[in-house]
Amino acid sequence: MVPLKRRKLGSSHTGNAGTNSGDEVKFPQVVLFLLERKMGASRRAFLSQLGRKKGFQVQELFSEIVTHVICENNSGEEVRTWLDSQASSRPGAHLLDISWYTESMRAGQPVEILDRHKLQQELQISEAEVIMFSVPSYACQRRTSLENHNTPLTEALSLLAENAELSEDDGRGVAFRRAAAVLKALPSPVTSMSQLKGLPCLGEHSLRVIKDILENGSSIEVESTKNSERYNALKVLTGIFGVGSKTAERWIRAGIHSLHQLQDSGQTLNRAQQAGLEHYDDINQPVTKAEADVIGEIVEKAVVSVLPGAQIVLTGGFRRGKLTGHDVDFLITHPEEGREVGLMSKVVSWLESKGFLLYQKTTRNSYLESKDGPGRPASNIDRFERCFSIFKLAKEKETRTKDPQEVTENRVSAETDQNPNSDKLMNKQTDTPWRAVRVDLVVSPISQFAFALLGWTGSKLFERELRRWAGHERSMSLSSHALFDNKKGRYLRASSEEEIFAHLGLEFILPSERNA
Ligand code: UTP
Ligand code: MN
Repeated sequence: MVPLKRRKLGSSHTGNAGTNSGDEVKFPQVVLFLLERKMGASRRAFLSQLGRKKGFQVQELFSEIVTHVICENNSGEEVRTWLDSQASSRPGAHLLDISWYTESMRAGQPVEILDRHKLQQELQISEAEVIMFSVPSYACQRRTSLENHNTPLTEALSLLAENAELSEDDGRGVAFRRAAAVLKALPSPVTSMSQLKGLPCLGEHSLRVIKDILENGSSIEVESTKNSERYNALKVLTGIFGVGSKTAERWIRAGIHSLHQLQDSGQTLNRAQQAGLEHYDDINQPVTKAEADVIGEIVEKAVVSVLPGAQIVLTGGFRRGKLTGHDVDFLITHPEEGREVGLMSKVVSWLESKGFLLYQKTTRNSYLESKDGPGRPASNIDRFERCFSIFKLAKEKETRTKDPQEVTENRVSAETDQNPNSDKLMNKQTDTPWRAVRVDLVVSPISQFAFALLGWTGSKLFERELRRWAGHERSMSLSSHALFDNKKGRYLRASSEEEIFAHLGLEFILPSERNA
């Protein structure tokens, strides 16, 4: 803001409201005012002088005759605030960046005002965006692609969500996930808090985090969480396959924060955790789509070998178009209802006999519609026959040919068998010709296949929102097995995802748009 003292000085020194009367006025329609704020007094004086020499009217004082306000390093909002504090101003005055001024100086005349010169553009856009930024409140009503325009914000909120989940605070976890998901669905970057007015799912806490990041570039809460011993210990320990947040919490209370401390502690580990610890580095290294495809070929081979006509589909994050994942998820079915019974154990035996499995645990199908009734809407636990496994995947070699016969035997199994008691974690052999990959296999009867496919494609939040929508908005119960209409008191059958969306009164959302 122009200090009062300077204004008085200016007006007393120049009779013509600040324009240097010694220079010819070439552009009478253009009356300029340079904002001192952030530009500085001496630069302002120098630039004003320059303008006047070139025949521009540059006012020392701001008044309603000013047609162009020139600013440097000010946001549209800042200038607007300053303008509002002035006694009077011309309604249509241009708020311009210094670039318009310097270009005009160079041209020797006022250059055409382009979008990039306009400061008020930011305000106009943000006003437009407040309107644009209206998103439906359920994530399953929105299209959420893999990429979003607000990653600094969504990553920060996702980290807080993860921390809450690791701390068994699911309510808070979901709140942060929903807030992040709303920002993921926005068509452009958020630049000011005013744009967020009226958006759903943005609670006080999330808004505070967003504000900190918009204003300071980072949030103290996020940074301190990221660096906290507790969060990092929870991450390391739950990175062990078979270790959930409850177990990790118990270990942390016993003073265990690292894998070394865990190994020294003498804690008893179950079979899954032992395998998880043994293959820790591999399992915590993202799986690529190319690796998922190779595993897909192997699983397909296994499935059709033991039951011709059976089909497999890649689900989870890869079906949503992700390029990497923490595991690979497959859904298996057979077009004839009932033929899938007993399939999993045969597939697992086949894979085991070929040396593809480092670990596996199969749970039986425990879903019985007549007995179970409609799926509980708030739960994503399903009761399909399921195999949690760790695959032994040959590393891709440059010379490797795409011979389909190759997948029939695991070529690396013989050469790499190691002493199971060796301390692989401490002396990890990084040059093994294979890597460990987490793979989930699920078998579904064809009558439930569409529900299973929808339920296993994710994202987790998208699934949760689908069930919330079904329950709250449609009085229906959705699970990975079935959809039950509570008002009609009957199951709604579907043989495709499209039919399920239609039953729910939702527009169909492609898998690639379910990345909420
Ligand atoms: P994932 O945990 O594998 O997530 O569950 P993802 O989206 O594939 O992510 P990455 O890439 O592996 O990290 C996949 C889907 O399976 C459902 C989840 O809800 C998710 O939508 N799921 C998972 C179940 O329905 N039941 C389970 O027991 C586990
Ligand atoms: Mn997955």
